[in-house]
Amino acid sequence: MNWKDALLDIVKDSDSRIRFGELLAKHTYFGIGGEATAYIEISTVDELGALARFHRQWDVPVAIIGRGSNLLVSDTGFNGISVRLVGELAKLDVDGNTVSVGAGLSLPRLSKNMSRQGLSGVEFALGIPGSVGGALIMNAGAWGSSFGDVVTNVTVMTDTGELVNLTHAEAAFEYRHSGLDAYFCATGARLKLEPGDVDTITARMQTFYKQKIETQPFAEENAGCMFKNPSGDSAGRLIDISGLKGHRIGGAEVSRVHGNFILNIDNATAADVLDLIAYIQKQVREKTGISLQTEVKRLGFLD
Ligand code: EPU
Repeated sequence: MNWKDALLDIVKDSDSRIRFGELLAKHTYFGIGGEATAYIEISTVDELGALARFHRQWDVPVAIIGRGSNLLVSDTGFNGISVRLVGELAKLDVDGNTVSVGAGLSLPRLSKNMSRQGLSGVEFALGIPGSVGGALIMNAGAWGSSFGDVVTNVTVMTDTGELVNLTHAEAAFEYRHSGLDAYFCATGARLKLEPGDVDTITARMQTFYKQKIETQPFAEENAGCMFKNPSGDSAGRLIDISGLKGHRIGGAEVSRVHGNFILNIDNATAADVLDLIAYIQKQVREKTGISLQTEVKRLGFLD
């Protein structure tokens, strides 16, 4: 048996939930990237456990791609299996102000649902088009809040397919980083939210969203902020004062609205984006002495 046949045994309905040679450009907000050898939708913990064991047995690279919102995929694609969590792994359960969320759920959906239920704490997340899993791993945030702030526990799966429940402290949340990368996969989290008035929470959520629309690009394909903010400053501001807004390499351009966004304005390749990243880093270093570090995750590159 080869690994592709073994993969077909992991899920039911493999015809619709497994595809070979899947173009990843269509699974990323950047709209960039070649093919993954395989793409699979995993909908239960049991299937995920089987995938973890498959990964150990066959040693084929596996990447959980979330909703592809913070991801740059190489032009040559990903020599491995890209995974999307759906079904049971994208569920939402509310018990008073304790909320259990699956890693596959989208943050905007979570944010809207919580506002409708009069639960406060994730209003900031409407404008972040990622998954709960991505938000856990990256400790995604905006407008002074980070996802980790509302998380009491995280469930992860180990390489051997075991589920482990971690406390907030064990998840080791930092600015745009956590300790969760060490596991095979984050499967979900328990959140503690504050009960409040539906209209107040909804208004707060809409105010954040309006602020996002006013200060960040949204029409063109992009992967959110490209660089982490250096301590006490904004990468976007540094890129701006370095005169780089509107700078273009191939089909990739620095947003004229917010300097920390790279836009795919005309069939940009991953190589265009990497060249633009390197150019920005060099110019900002020369002009300000600060070395910007990327925030966006990469897939399919050699380094
Ligand atoms: N600024 C400029 N020019 C620019 C961009 C920003 O002068 O081109 C100035 C702004 O005027 C403001 C300051 O820099 O005075 C900070 O800007 P902003 O409020 O936009 O925040 P940011 O630090 O640039 C961070 C997060 C965003 C998040 C916003 C809003 C990071 C890397 N960025 O941006 O998160 O949405 O705050 O809270 O942490 C992301 O992580 O993908 C992301 C977009």
